Amino acid sequence: MLDQLAEIETKGLSELDAAPDAPAVEAWRIAYLGSKGRLKALMPQLKDVPKENKAEVGKRLNEVKSRLEAAFKARSSGGGGGVKAPAGGPLIDMTEPGLIDSAGIGRRHIITRVRNELVEVFAQMGFSVAEGPELEDDEHNFVKLNIPEGHPAREPIDNFYVDDPLKAKLPRMLRSQTSTVQIRMMEDAVAQGWGPPIKIISPGRVYRPDTVDATHSFMFHQIEGLYLDRKVSMVDLKTTLFQFARAYFGADADIRLRPSFFPFTEPSAEFDMKIALKPGAEPAWIELGGCGMVDPNVLKACGIDPEQWTGFAFGFGIERLAMGKYNIPDIRLLFENDVRFLEQL
Ligand code: DAH
Repeated sequence: MLDQLAEIETKGLSELDAAPDAPAVEAWRIAYLGSKGRLKALMPQLKDVPKENKAEVGKRLNEVKSRLEAAFKARSSGGGGGVKAPAGGPLIDMTEPGLIDSAGIGRRHIITRVRNELVEVFAQMGFSVAEGPELEDDEHNFVKLNIPEGHPAREPIDNFYVDDPLKAKLPRMLRSQTSTVQIRMMEDAVAQGWGPPIKIISPGRVYRPDTVDATHSFMFHQIEGLYLDRKVSMVDLKTTLFQFARAYFGADADIRLRPSFFPFTEPSAEFDMKIALKPGAEPAWIELGGCGMVDPNVLKACGIDPEQWTGFAFGFGIERLAMGKYNIPDIRLLFENDVRFLEQL
């Protein structure tokens, strides 16, 4: 009987090893460990074993049984009894579904979602999306926007210059405003002959070396708008902003313009938007951004005749809008990317 056990052990293990797939493994289990399997079939013989050998044979029987069971378990676990692994390699069943729970279901970042929503609203008003580089030069960030040398906005301490502004011919910098894309689009339109008219919006990142606090960050997002055509007026500007406010925040939303100054627009205004921060709450004014009629100097710098073409431009912060809409008290929450916060939005 000891010989039989030894044979069952060696043969059993090698047959299991050779089993190519799950059905073969199951057939093996039935043949060896099943209620009519080879091990069970040995049981009746135990009573014929001489008394003095009984203990030894019984022990061996248990040993073989646990070995075969352990081998079967190893083969089935992890692989679901599946495809035979290469010798020595791990058992992986490529047909098993993944562990979805541990990965969790993702979502877009709130800034990306608000950006896409804004693009969608302006697209419905006929604006197309334009992009410009984040690594800019001071000609597009300042000069052609009518911000001359010596202007306080150009101070090196208030900008992320990449080249020394006093030494480089065309100093590069991280753009401090998306108004750069106005210039790039007007230059392109003239050089490539597709415009004006130009009607674009441009969302993107901007950089300023501000000290980080609840309302400031050294990197944030703006969205810029430019509409250049014949006889565009301040009425078109106000209507566009008003329609935008209604489309995005609902029928109760309102806007107001306050006279202001920007070098690249004349006249210039700041615009505020009146929105209910929570459903049913009393609407409140939030300061959103700047706007105005494109300054003739800006058009001329891009090779466009200001006698023939007029336009409006606007720009505002996406974080500011998102914080207003979702009642977020601190801009840092948007960039720390703590999923416990992001999951709530
Ligand atoms: N670029 C300005 C800023 O960053 C915002 C702005 C004001 C954009 C007036 C405009 C504009 O297009 O017309 O503060």
